[in-house]
Amino acid sequence: MFIALEGGEGAGKSTLAAALEERLRAQGRDVVLTREPGGTDLGDIVSGMVRHRQGLTPRAELLLFEAARAQHVQDVIRPALERGDIVLCDRFTASTVAYQGYGRKLPLREIAQANRMAAGGAAPALTLLLDLPPDTGLRRDTTDPAGDRLRGERAAFHERVRRGYLAQAAADPERWLVIDATQPREAVLEAAWARIQALL
Ligand code: TMP
Repeated sequence: MFIALEGGEGAGKSTLAAALEERLRAQGRDVVLTREPGGTDLGDIVSGMVRHRQGLTPRAELLLFEAARAQHVQDVIRPALERGDIVLCDRFTASTVAYQGYGRKLPLREIAQANRMAAGGAAPALTLLLDLPPDTGLRRDTTDPAGDRLRGERAAFHERVRRGYLAQAAADPERWLVIDATQPREAVLEAAWARIQALL
């Protein structure tokens, strides 16, 4: 089972992912918790580049995320799914639709093609969207935004990212759950947990 966690900056994805991992392990399940970009050494390099390298074009940015994804799917996600593990992935293809599609305004058709090429058929059975107003998220996220190209984007960019996520969720309610991430942490966890248990 492949589960993706999505949301804007400071939505609480990592905290939720760690809590879900703990609960699933307590049930005796094998879990792989991973993230994009990251999850492989190439992913870590891409992560540094997309955050800090000035002058990247939107298409270069798109293809860097996709290169990291192709490696991540082959080296981490696919082997885990083949072993029968549960994969919890902090960001996947929906991030690219939201950030490079809605945020950077690249054509959604191109994003879909690039996502297909990189994911090679790997698709989450469930995507948990932690939804909250961008200014709340950016205030919560205490990491230094200096020089972080994506976090440092203007408010309108982050509003478009949010809209991009909500549009994807609305188009596929069977496979998406939107969670109000302004709720207390426990309430967010219980909402996610109930849906995962129903699926399992
Ligand atoms: P995070 O570590 O906070 O999840 O940050 C990863 C950043 O990369 C975040 O700003 C979202 C961005 N991102 C994209 O723009 N496109 C993508 O496809 C992915 C996976 C992440």
